[in-house]
Amino acid sequence: MVNNPVILIYPLKEFRYTLVKEREVPSMNVNDAIVTRRSTRAYRSEPVSEEQLQKVIKAGRMAPSGGNSQKCHFIVITDRKLLGKLAVMVQDTFAAREVTEGMYVSMASAITRAKAGKLIFHYNAPCLIVMANDRDYGNNMADCSCALENMMIMANELDLGTCWINQLRWLNEDEKLVELFRQLGMKENERIYGSLAIGYPATDDGLPVRKPLPRSGNEVTWIK
Ligand SMILES: Cc1cc2nc3c(=O)[nH]c(=O)nc-3n(C[C@H](O)[C@H](O)[C@H](O)COP(=O)(O)O)c2cc1C
Repeated sequence: MVNNPVILIYPLKEFRYTLVKEREVPSMNVNDAIVTRRSTRAYRSEPVSEEQLQKVIKAGRMAPSGGNSQKCHFIVITDRKLLGKLAVMVQDTFAAREVTEGMYVSMASAITRAKAGKLIFHYNAPCLIVMANDRDYGNNMADCSCALENMMIMANELDLGTCWINQLRWLNEDEKLVELFRQLGMKENERIYGSLAIGYPATDDGLPVRKPLPRSGNEVTWIK
């Protein structure tokens, strides 16, 4: 991407031209923002600035959606008390479950950590963006995933750390959690399909760790 602001010009009905808006030009190119995005699992306690959060949310809202349905519902939680309450609820719910043979390894690890009283599912990030969508819509998870990835890339551009958090999706039919999220504005037909922890990374320089993980999986079959 170019580093100079690009001015977009738009024709009016009267064939006059007017300045519409200045494009916001990021300082990190798209390739770098994608390739250096990593998950952050330790956060500073300072709240994320609202301006930065708005940019991240906008990036999520600009994600594509099946049939342009735009059914994602971004529930943005910065209330510390609520984040604490959620952590306890999630820990208690997982602690009451049992690890079974062949269980998805991350699920088994969540249960084990919860039983030991060591599961803080959102890593004490100062913000959690919970992605809800219509439970009867076939692309609910896909649309939320597109929004989540857009937000992670934008957050990286802004030097914020993020981590995709799956626990609320695993518990998305848990009565107590559904009821809590209904009180927070989730609609009757909506359920949670992912969430994003976001905050300033607790690193020495305050920047996200950006060393890419090698890719040995994610196979490519190229037919020419
Ligand atoms: C669908 C999905 C679910 C994930 N769930 C969690 C999670 O619940 N907790 C967590 O710490 N990381 C979670 N992650 C992050 C992955 O563990 C992480 O992306 C992976 O280990 C690669 O590391 P990187 O993001 O630093 O490149 C999730 C990622 C995806 C795409």
